[in-house]
Order: sequence, then structure tokens, then C-alpha cells
Amino acid sequence: MTDTSFDTEVTAKAAESGANASARFRERIASSGTRAGVVDTERVNYLASKVIKGLNDIILDDKVSYEEYNALKAWLIKVGETGEWPLFLDVWLEHSVEEVANEHREGSKGTIEGPYYIEGAPELSWNGTIPMRDNEPGTPLLFEGQVRAVDGTPLSGAKLELWHADDLGFYSQFAPGLPEWNLRGTWTANEDGRFEIHTLRPAPYMIPTDGACGQLIEAAGWHAWRPAHLHFKVSAPGHELITTQLYFPGDPHNEDDIASAVKPELLLDPQDSADGNGFVTHYDFVLDPEH
Ligand code: DHB
Ligand code: FE
Repeated sequence: MTDTSFDTEVTAKAAESGANASARFRERIASSGTRAGVVDTERVNYLASKVIKGLNDIILDDKVSYEEYNALKAWLIKVGETGEWPLFLDVWLEHSVEEVANEHREGSKGTIEGPYYIEGAPELSWNGTIPMRDNEPGTPLLFEGQVRAVDGTPLSGAKLELWHADDLGFYSQFAPGLPEWNLRGTWTANEDGRFEIHTLRPAPYMIPTDGACGQLIEAAGWHAWRPAHLHFKVSAPGHELITTQLYFPGDPHNEDDIASAVKPELLLDPQDSADGNGFVTHYDFVLDPEH
């Protein structure tokens, strides 16, 4: 692949992924119940007033100029036009929402979902291989472990959904040209709650840089990287579903993830595979009871 065609692919992805993420989010809200996305008047009054006051305080304290105000206005318009609100919100705010939502948990740590989850990935057996292209680039990774309750009971038949980016950082259904369910699957744990997931080790991921989010990153002198990660949703009847991500030690962006979604408990410990082909790593998920 030449540099030029790679740039084209990256650009096409950035332009498309924002719009796709917005469309997917709208579909999910529409199908998830009548009051989804609705917050009662008193709470809206309280929170919206607080946000508006917070921004006004910043303008006054930091003496924000018309030039800066208009730059913000132009940027906000562009976030909407490029469909990048899901990306912006999931990168810079979701980690705090997740912290609040999961502070009661005793089991495994969660972290942000991000904009690229799709429901209904192909069902695989407890030790199945993730859907991938014939010559999918990347190093084999065997991810094995057990799903348990907080009291240690193995959760037979637990469901594990995994989605991750390919070797170039692209997610299927958000970047063009990838098979629909590439690197997305649903595993059912065996009678002992165990699973063996055959996949590839993901590469570090750069959020799209040619849209409004990229413009902010560049204007502020930040970087656009997330460390390599595996996204999971793990669930079992009578237990709370956990949405999380797992990371690889030594990744240069574990300490400065743009999405602030890395936690020490979410680092894997991959070892060279006994057959010399790739890596094997062990991770157990512990689910809280439903309340
Ligand atoms: C974004 C992408 C991710 O893969 C992720 O996990 C979180 C956020 C993003 O581009 O906004
Ligand atoms: Fe991701």
C-alpha cells in the first residue's frame, strides 16, 4: 500500500466513522425503550444550569475574548456537521460517567464503551475463533479465563461479547471496506464458566484526526492515541452486565490514553504461546449480583 492510499483510507474512515457512530447511537436510543434519553425536568434544570454557570465562570475568570468565543462556536458547529459528538463525548466525558455508574461494584472493573459497539455479533462456542479476513494482519492471541460471581461460583453459560480494531486501528461497520462482523464475536462460557477466545493482538488506536476532534487535538497540542485494547461486554442471568476494556503492559499510551479509560486492574499479562505462535493471556471476569 502506498502512503497516499493509506491517507485516503484514513481520511475516508474519519469522515465516515463519525456519521456511523451518530447513526448507530440514534438507532440504539430509539430501540431501547420509550423513556431512553429522557431526563426529568427538575434534574435537567439543575444540571443544565450548572453547566451553563460553569462555562460562564470560565469566560469571566479567564477573560475569554470574542476571537476565542467565535473559534469555539465554529468548532461546535463542525462537531455536529461531522457527526463527531459520540466521539467527543466518549473520549472526554464517558470515563467520569462510567466511574459514577460502577462505583458500587465489587467484581471486575469496568471502563468506557466508546462509540464502536454493535449488538448481535456472531455467536461462537466457548472456545471459538473471532470472525476475521483470510489474511487478517496481526499476531494470534489466545484469551482464556473464567466468568464467576463475586462469591466465586462459576457462571456457566455466561455471555462474552468482544470487539476490537484491526492492525491499522479500524473497526468494522465504522470504517469502509471491512467485512460486517470483522473482529467482533459473542462467546458462551462452558459449564465451568470457562472460555477460550481465539483472536489477534490489537494495535494502538488513533482517534480520527481529520474531523473536529482532531482539530481540537491539534489546536491544543495534544495527541490522538488510545493504547491497544480489547472491548468486552460480559453478562450472565441474575448478574450485572459489565462493559470494560483490557490493555497490554508496555503500551506507550497506557499512561496517557486520550480517553482516560485505562485502570491498573485492566492490564493483561500476555505470555509467549507454548506453540511459539503468538500470545496467550488469562483474565477472569467477576460479575456483581443484580440488585
Ligand atoms: C473512541 C474510540 C475507541 O476505540 C474507544 O475505545 C473510545 C473512543 C473514539 O474514537 O472516540
Ligand atoms: Fe476502542
